[in-house]
Amino acid sequence: CGIVGYAGPRPTARPDASNGGEAVAVVLEGLRRLEYRGYDSAGVAVVVESEGRPESSLGSSDQVSDQVSEQGTHELRVAKRAGRLARLEEALEAEPVPDAGAAIGHTRWATHGGPTDANAHPHTSADGRLAVIHNGIIENYAVLKAELLEQGVPFTSQTDTEVVAHLLGRAMDGSSGGPVDLASAMRQVCRELEGAFTLLAVHVDAPGTVVGARRNSPLVVGLGEGANYLGSDVAAFIGRTRRALELGQDQVVTITASSVEVTDFDGAAVTPRAFTVDWDAAAAEKGGYQWFMDKEIHEQPKAVADTLLGRTDASGALILDELRMDTAVLRRTDKIIVIACGTSAYAGHVAKYAVEHWCRIPVEVELASEFRYRDPVLTERTLVVAISQSGESMDVVMAVRHAREQGAKVLAICNTQGSTIPREADAALYTHAGPEVAVASTKAFLAQITACYLLGLYLAQLRGNMFADEVRGVLRQLHQMPEAVQTVLDRTEDVRKLARELADAKSVLFLGRHVGFPVALEGALKLKELAYLHAEGFAAGELKHGPIALVEDGQPVFVIVPSPDSRDSLHAKVVSNAQEVRARGARTIVIAEDGDDAVLGSADVVIRVPRVPTLMAPLVTVVPLQVFAMEVASAKGLDVDQPRNLAKSVTVE
Ligand code: G6P
Repeated sequence: CGIVGYAGPRPTARPDASNGGEAVAVVLEGLRRLEYRGYDSAGVAVVVESEGRPESSLGSSDQVSDQVSEQGTHELRVAKRAGRLARLEEALEAEPVPDAGAAIGHTRWATHGGPTDANAHPHTSADGRLAVIHNGIIENYAVLKAELLEQGVPFTSQTDTEVVAHLLGRAMDGSSGGPVDLASAMRQVCRELEGAFTLLAVHVDAPGTVVGARRNSPLVVGLGEGANYLGSDVAAFIGRTRRALELGQDQVVTITASSVEVTDFDGAAVTPRAFTVDWDAAAAEKGGYQWFMDKEIHEQPKAVADTLLGRTDASGALILDELRMDTAVLRRTDKIIVIACGTSAYAGHVAKYAVEHWCRIPVEVELASEFRYRDPVLTERTLVVAISQSGESMDVVMAVRHAREQGAKVLAICNTQGSTIPREADAALYTHAGPEVAVASTKAFLAQITACYLLGLYLAQLRGNMFADEVRGVLRQLHQMPEAVQTVLDRTEDVRKLARELADAKSVLFLGRHVGFPVALEGALKLKELAYLHAEGFAAGELKHGPIALVEDGQPVFVIVPSPDSRDSLHAKVVSNAQEVRARGARTIVIAEDGDDAVLGSADVVIRVPRVPTLMAPLVTVVPLQVFAMEVASAKGLDVDQPRNLAKSVTVE
């Protein structure tokens, strides 16, 4: 889910009808930037000055749970809608709310309770004086709910979050002992909760204030001029400020227009770490493209170049002092385990081939969600590399904790500053892909491979597996990759045409070997995510052991052919695999290097990529597959940036 909070100047007068004024506008802007975190439903809450009863409550249709509560001189306004953010925006357009000094907003990826208006956030306390939004899962909600029901508290949704609204409401009204302020109420309630949560709350008794809390779920603070912000990640406020604070585990934050206070759950003051956000707001805009994904695909040369930037010195030698990991630890490492999910795991899979080759250290790649359940063998000589674009995937967070508990060192490769994984890891190497908004990952993948390669070269150099000159040679190859990727991007017309032709296919298969294997897996994943099409990637050599039975007349099969320069007749073997499926009726779409004519006899369609060294090939061969998936989805009229059922950053396990 995406979470935004704002505290700014108090409205001096009721505006004519400026759609909630600044507060709601800021929160909606943040939600638009965070919609990739979930888009099942959306909602906002503001505490506004009351002026007698308003003529009509916002969105009075019966399926809408908008509420108005009048208390003293302030009242709570909540608007929420199932569906995309646009539905909420329409509702607010039709019936604006007055200006307010503070607002909270939420965009949801449903866990407990389906995506209905009633289950949308914010949720309110029984007295309607408090609203809360939540990301995560309250694991003990059933017990807490049973207790509240017994005490006669009425529930209106199926969510775990509503429990928190009632508990906070009761803490505030004194029914759970003495009158308290909102931050104390939050601390008191958080101590009772189990599981993962980011919570933001507003209350009529605290106009102009937003109180937030976090445990195992992300929350960052943005420091503005005369206004402060809260967000699930920095994208929420990059249009407003670049000064930010990182919150730690089990902390409560209170923001007003002019202050930010952070404490732990027991009320002890905490000084959070400040950082400057290096993304700019324009990078999170579509910039003329129809889809964020299309734009992000086109930013890939820059993502690779920026990830290399500043990591070589004038002589072309590698400098990675920023890692700040004890070199003795890296020298004695005898095993690397990569943990990640989805596309990031495939980046790790690519890196395995390079790092084992360069460093002679065994590398395992493990899905983060499986890692701790298999009781992995970890020692203090194990280096765990956690790869995550968002730095927030809960499966990865939990795997990182497990690894550290077992004594392993953890190095994070992440794209988002201020996120949980780099904060909890022993060291971090950032990818510089810029904000990635489309749910399906593209530029982050290329940047992750680049960063993993830098790490591999660094280790090889440090441990004496490669001479400085050899490392320089590979770095030179890496520096040529932005141009090679650009060449692929300049030639996507044929892929786009092919995608429109194949838009009605029932299934598509992808074959590759060596580094082409994870590329095949990624090509299939893209097609599943975006086009809702059955797609599978296979190790080409494994084909004859089963998957070839799937091949029938007309079955589209992508074959990622390695360079003819590759070792051990890999090229010839993959070409044979293409022939084998073609002989059984498959329509083969072969991705091959410029000038590789050996593929012509086994290809129905050839997609050309520039000639690059074998280990660099994934950076170019994956690009046509990304474009293909995007174009198939587009031809089917689907939402490329926000595919059904998915969220960009999954902060539940
Ligand atoms: C989600 C996204 C994927 C992404 C994966 C890992 O499932 O839909 O596109 O690859 O999470 O995300 P991370 O932020 O940890 O790299």
